Amino acid sequence: MTQIRFGPMTEVTYAAGSIGFGIDIGGSGIKGAPVDLRDGALAAKRYRVPTPAKSTPEAVAACLAEVLEHFAVPTETPIGITFPGIIQHGVVLSSANLHKSWIDTDLADLVHRTTGHRATVVNDADAAGFAEVRHGAALGQDGVVMVLTLGTGIGSALINDGRLVPNTELGHLEIDGYDAETRAASSVKEREGLSYKKWATERLQRYFEVVEFLFSPDLFVVGGGVSKDHEKFLPLIRTRAPIVPAALRNQAGIIGAAALADREARDLPAPTP
Ligand code: BGC
Repeated sequence: MTQIRFGPMTEVTYAAGSIGFGIDIGGSGIKGAPVDLRDGALAAKRYRVPTPAKSTPEAVAACLAEVLEHFAVPTETPIGITFPGIIQHGVVLSSANLHKSWIDTDLADLVHRTTGHRATVVNDADAAGFAEVRHGAALGQDGVVMVLTLGTGIGSALINDGRLVPNTELGHLEIDGYDAETRAASSVKEREGLSYKKWATERLQRYFEVVEFLFSPDLFVVGGGVSKDHEKFLPLIRTRAPIVPAALRNQAGIIGAAALADREARDLPAPTP
């Protein structure tokens, strides 16, 4: 088999302890960048590889290798990787919008076997939510923060006083007999040709009402690509808690993944050789 090497194409100075690395696996692209852990800024322009049409674990792992090689990431740099599904101890437990063969795949182990790197693997919305609390729209907010990402599906992150409760999966709440994301995700707005007003008042309003009733957050943060158009739909949603757009937009996953990997590296004792 021919091994393709991509070579380091972006030079980065990996100052120990202050630079981490994040990769965000999405339905259309796999994006990575080094992250300055002190302020959450990207330390270089992000690099994007299109998600393979057949998004199997092997195909995606090759993309992860390409991203890591592009930045010549050293093995001691903490690496965080997001996945759009439930992740428990590095293992993928659900895959609503990527290939079904991901289910039960140990992504952390796959990355190690393919690239030689140890990585912390987290749900994509959890990473984005953690980033918004640490460096973005929910910075300094005490109490319960609920971050919802509106995209192909709906992702959720629940953070209480800075601590993340992982894998809440509120996109799949059953509301009025439907899996909520099949009614309220922004992909549904596109697919059904709904106006912002119709989407906000007929789909998102009901969704936010149910989530607010169940969790009574102190703040809602709304992310996902569509949040760049927030002024067209957020003011139409009525909630008790304030509702604000995400500040880190499409970089939140990368930043949060790097921050969570750094936190894990600091919490755990160094692995014995
Ligand atoms: C998945 C979640 C994910 C969300 C956003 C949902 O379909 O179940 O795990 O966070 O999409 O990608």
